[in-house]
Amino acid sequence: MTTYKANLANQPLCFDIKQDEVILDAALRQSISLPYGCRNGTCGACKSKITSGEITYKNGLTPAVNEEEHNQGYALLCQARAESDLVIEARMVDSTAETTLRKLPCRVTSCEKLSNDVIRLLLDLPKTERLQFFAGQYIDILMRGDKRRSFSMANPPHQDQQIELHIRYYNGGLFSEYAFHNLQEKTLLRIEGPLGSFTLQESDRPIIMIVGGTGFAPIKSIIEHAIHHEDKREINLYWGVRKEADLYMNELAQSWANQYSNINYIPVLSEAGKECNWSGKTGFVHEAVLEDYEDISAFDVYTCGPPPMINAVVESLPSIGLNKNRIFSDSFEFATN
Ligand code: FES
Repeated sequence: MTTYKANLANQPLCFDIKQDEVILDAALRQSISLPYGCRNGTCGACKSKITSGEITYKNGLTPAVNEEEHNQGYALLCQARAESDLVIEARMVDSTAETTLRKLPCRVTSCEKLSNDVIRLLLDLPKTERLQFFAGQYIDILMRGDKRRSFSMANPPHQDQQIELHIRYYNGGLFSEYAFHNLQEKTLLRIEGPLGSFTLQESDRPIIMIVGGTGFAPIKSIIEHAIHHEDKREINLYWGVRKEADLYMNELAQSWANQYSNINYIPVLSEAGKECNWSGKTGFVHEAVLEDYEDISAFDVYTCGPPPMINAVVESLPSIGLNKNRIFSDSFEFATN
């Protein structure tokens, strides 16, 4: 199959484009973060200038780029295919500050109980919309009376046609009570996002991830993103919960470790009763890390979950060399009504 080269004007970046793929897909596949919105030729967010080379559209021009713009060299990267090597003048979206904050409607397509107190929501965006985000970011669900609740996206950015959220039940929690007792498939919600700066950092240092409960959601997004981009960094995932049944995606985490030699998975139970035959780690999740390492100064540490867990990590891990500039955290504060 023919492959063309695309260079980004004024930037030392290039990527390959296969003959059968659109330019935007090729760029994203190779971790070149170009801007986009709908990915179906409607919004114009991906419009960029082709300063050299030939492109073609499988289904002709769409309303987001008119004949005049086309003749001036502007192209919709989510629709155009390469017919030769290209030079593209495009803005890069290489930090969370450069993503566009948007309010969007979405429809609940699945509401599945994963454990006693966690459900997974899958939300469909309108057909003409996609949400560009970085792995690890969150959205707000907008509720009546100007109230909002924040949830991390558990899907990786390359799977942006559906948003996946892990909702933990809190007694009296405004959204979680609704999600556990009243929310049904096909319900319409309004969201705002992407938000937050808890994302995978550029680095070649090995990683320790210390996660509590549904702090697993953004970590799932980050790990699936790393796998998709063949990031070979060593990842040591510690997931702390109370009981074995709370490891609500244990098989998925285990499958990463089985399939990828750079990923290790260490589940930790804080309330493993004698009756459960648990042979893995017990105690608090930060204690498991203290037990396993004498010196973590060479590691990047990502931690995500309830504030007491994050505090325990921040307070105890300096004793084994935690580099304070290399810790990235997302604290799941519980908002009261
Ligand atoms: S036109 Fe919307 S992303 Fe290309």
